[in-house]
Amino acid sequence: MRRTQVGIVGAGPAGLVLSHLLYRQGIESVVLESRTREYVQERVRAGVLEQNTVDLLTDLGVGERMRREGLVHRGIELRFQGRGHRIDFDELTGGRAITIYAQAEVIKDLIDARLAAGQPIVFEAENVSVHNLEGPRPSIQFRKDKDSEPEELFCDFIAGCDGFHGVCRPSIPNEALTVYERGYPFAWLGILAEAPPSSEELVYSHHDRGFALLSMRSRQLSRLYLQCPGDENINDWPDERIWQELRTRLACDGWTLTEGPILQKGITEMRSWVVEPMQFGRLFLAGDSAHIVPPTGAKGLNLAVADVRILARAIAEFYSSGSCGLLDTYSDTCLRRVWKVQRFSWWMTSMLHRFDSDNAFDRRRQLGELDYVTSSRAAAQSLAENYVGLPME
Ligand code: APR
Ligand code: PHB
Repeated sequence: MRRTQVGIVGAGPAGLVLSHLLYRQGIESVVLESRTREYVQERVRAGVLEQNTVDLLTDLGVGERMRREGLVHRGIELRFQGRGHRIDFDELTGGRAITIYAQAEVIKDLIDARLAAGQPIVFEAENVSVHNLEGPRPSIQFRKDKDSEPEELFCDFIAGCDGFHGVCRPSIPNEALTVYERGYPFAWLGILAEAPPSSEELVYSHHDRGFALLSMRSRQLSRLYLQCPGDENINDWPDERIWQELRTRLACDGWTLTEGPILQKGITEMRSWVVEPMQFGRLFLAGDSAHIVPPTGAKGLNLAVADVRILARAIAEFYSSGSCGLLDTYSDTCLRRVWKVQRFSWWMTSMLHRFDSDNAFDRRRQLGELDYVTSSRAAAQSLAENYVGLPME
């Protein structure tokens, strides 16, 4: 039998950043993760960090490699009707930027720093379950491995940072939660290619055949995406078909796509999803366990980090003054940002993708919107301030 102040379920961006924020305040926590260390460190996920996220990681002392290896981008390109239009973040937001640095690298840095500080992460935790959420002493039951005895970790608080498919949210009675969701009738086919990025900055391309995105992980690695049907089978996409489609959808005067060996490919579902409230008794949900955004605009990781920043502040207030004030408003505070970010991700998705239900009017309207965003300073500024990250509360 063990105890800790905060039991954290999940070693994704939400759980690990929370553990560092708490440690900095002298608050003890245990992170329980069902996968292996290698698995969480190698998972190919997002790669765009908002200025807020970069500043926080730097502040936590885990930003050194990010500063060395990350690529700072001061704008993005919107491409439509074969022409590129730059959105200049630097000028539109007063010098804010984004950093391209893979989530997997962020995770490695966070895990290394936590273990170096002698703080616990239990990888490959089996049969994780959460209990007594409404009482003063919630607990997490788990096994260190398949053959060991079940253990119980008693906590003051539990942070459910275990993603969309985790155990924390399903442990809350259904009637205590309301779900808001919107599906999209398409997905993204993503590749990682050993090819220098064909553009300095990210390119979001609107095309009659569907959306395409040029992103990157480093100066040697391109990350590219194609909108595809929701039920697409990756086996129907041999490498040459992928490159052909990317060339078509990203085509632009005087520009060529650099190609190279495809190292990894996969299909990402798209959905907008929110659960309210993000708290039940002493269980607090953060990150993907509470909300999912479609990847257009790259907000998932950044929103997870914003949640745990609010949660850490609330928990710190509890230990320093005994007040539950910030804990009680945790969900409302997070949800204000969550809905603004949901709006932005939905809007970017709607503006850039081909919806089969759209008629000719809708397609012209989309082009009108892209024209507006790239020709009106007010509209471009709205995109820019959301993309680099809205101010923290
Ligand atoms: N017990 C312990 N850990 C679990 C359990 C469980 N029952 N279920 C899931 N996990 C772990 C997962 O293996 C994963 O490592 O919880 C972690 C959740 O991490 P993420 O899914 O990355 O979620 P989050 O930290 O909220 O970050 C959200 O990261 O991966 C992206 O698309 C995601 O951008 C979004 C952001
Ligand atoms: C990525 O590089 O994986 C990426 C970039 C921008 C997005 C989504 C994903 O909008």
